[in-house]
Amino acid sequence: MSTLNGTATADRYVVIGNPIAHSKSPAIHAHFSLLTAQLIDYQRLLAPLDGFAQTVLSFRDSGGKGANVTVPFKLEAFALATQLTPRAQAAGAVNTLKFEGAVILGDNTDGQGLVADIVRNARVTLQGKRVLLLGAGGAARGALLPLLEQQPAQLVIANRTVARAEELVLLAHQYEPLAGIASIVTSSAFSDVNGEFDIVINATSASLHDDVPPVSSGIFTANTLAYDMMYGAAPTAFLRFAASHEAQIRDGLGMLVEQAAVAFALWRGVLPETASVLAELRSALMAAARSS
Ligand code: ATR
Repeated sequence: MSTLNGTATADRYVVIGNPIAHSKSPAIHAHFSLLTAQLIDYQRLLAPLDGFAQTVLSFRDSGGKGANVTVPFKLEAFALATQLTPRAQAAGAVNTLKFEGAVILGDNTDGQGLVADIVRNARVTLQGKRVLLLGAGGAARGALLPLLEQQPAQLVIANRTVARAEELVLLAHQYEPLAGIASIVTSSAFSDVNGEFDIVINATSASLHDDVPPVSSGIFTANTLAYDMMYGAAPTAFLRFAASHEAQIRDGLGMLVEQAAVAFALWRGVLPETASVLAELRSALMAAARSS
């Protein structure tokens, strides 16, 4: 909380993107604010496509305390940060900024949000498990370090463009904090993925086109958790494919809520409870689908 003329005012935060009208972040952070009794003011902020840095700096200079960053600015936020957390460094992208005097701290909470949703909410441990990560774009890269920190037995990264999966493997192998555990990471083409996996995470954007990465159905068992980072009122094509081969399925709505909780904790020093927010978002999503 800040004081202005002796009156308490809420600390101000924004989510910056283009477009931004659809963002659920203000609703999520309003819930967190109530749940933690931390008074914050959180709004959407549209930045012009050629004016991200200027928008961030003028918000900070007007007293803003921090920002979430979404499409298409996560790489620009990475470049703008004057300090980076190790997971932002590993992700090569920033989704959370915290302003501390002259310092602009850049963090990336997406991967941590994914892991929290799998481990805490879905109650599936990653430690010692065989994990398949589909995709090698920004979303997959952001998940790499938090997934490896859970010490899976194996992490296979499969991508349409295999060279990009190989780049992620190299990155994991070279990344100092991962020394030792990174050796379990390998790359693959979709068609070469074989054997059964405990957890399969779809980090491709195929679901946006109602498409499924062409992997064998033999990767799924009744104990496999198939996770799609995308979410919607209905299961994605990938989740429908996985469910038709007996896998357990989960979409990325929990990841959205959990990444927000990690950002909130970075700003406020308190990790909010997330179950009620997730339940409320899920019913809002279903209600919107029924009325459309
Ligand atoms: P994001 O930041 O969402 O990860 P991105 O960096 O553009 O976006 O990466 C998109 C990912 O989805 C990539 O792994 C891409 O595969 P390529 O590297 O071969 O382009 C993958 N992808 C997109 N459309 C796909 C499709 N229809 N089938 C399979 N993979 C797809």
